[in-house]
Amino acid sequence: MSMDNYLRTLNPQQREAVMINDGSLLVFAGAGSGKTRVITTKIAYAISELGVRPWQILAVTFTNRACKEMQDRVIDMVGDEGQSVMIRTFHSFGVWLLRKYGQLVGLDANFKIYDDDDSVALLCQAFPDDNKKEIAGYYRKISVIKDRMEKPNPLDDRLCKYYSKYQSMLQRTGNVDFADMILKSIDLLRRNPDVKEQVHKRFKMILVDEYQDSNKAQFLLLKEIVGPDTFICAVGDDDQSIYR
Ligand SMILES: Nc1ncnc2c1ncn2[C@@H]1O[C@H](COP(=O)(O)OP(=O)(O)OP(=O)(O)O)[C@@H](O)[C@H]1O
Ligand SMILES: [Mg+2]
Repeated sequence: MSMDNYLRTLNPQQREAVMINDGSLLVFAGAGSGKTRVITTKIAYAISELGVRPWQILAVTFTNRACKEMQDRVIDMVGDEGQSVMIRTFHSFGVWLLRKYGQLVGLDANFKIYDDDDSVALLCQAFPDDNKKEIAGYYRKISVIKDRMEKPNPLDDRLCKYYSKYQSMLQRTGNVDFADMILKSIDLLRRNPDVKEQVHKRFKMILVDEYQDSNKAQFLLLKEIVGPDTFICAVGDDDQSIYR
């Protein structure tokens, strides 16, 4: 199908959202109203009508499955070059960035990603006399604190003890947990203007699906990667927010 035909399948509001491509665009619309379809058509439109190169486009969504579906849809519309559009979750975008530049923020060249079980095991190793179940409970608190970019309550001695040991162990070994994939990426871009500039130069267009689910850290990462000339489009449905 040609681009004209793809545009013809859209309703007027969707078509308008596809064709606005300067500055920034925030689209809020209801469940199943075609938000994801707007993003994939926008990507195809930018490539075939605006001369944007596929690798200059970054699309971010919240699950690996949604990434795969979007990538397949883009490839359907523009052909093989659709493979070069970067479609990732915030976390996997962070990992991509940190695999390239992580050593600038103290990561090991082959850093490991700790999942929740690895992290609890790390704490249990450091505190062999403490109750494992309780450690796991404290780890969940640490994880929430990091996602929110907060610090542990200074009155909670045990939480503070685990938090500081955990953070220093990750730092010493140069490895990351889930929250760090975003936090270290923010840190990297804030401390290294040259890396930030390279990212800004590469991505001319950034699209975020399910924007209502992004947390503070993800929002701040987005703020770092959007350059002065980047077109940014975020679509979401505030009724479906996981933070409601
Ligand atoms: N203009 C249209 N004509 C025909 N089908 C459409 C149109 N817009 C969307 N659809 C179809 O409706 C379904 C929902 O679209 P889409 O997934 O883009 O919506 P969404 O707003 O992203 O949904 P969600 O809120 O679940 O994320 C899809 O199967 C899509 O192909
Ligand atoms: Mg959708």
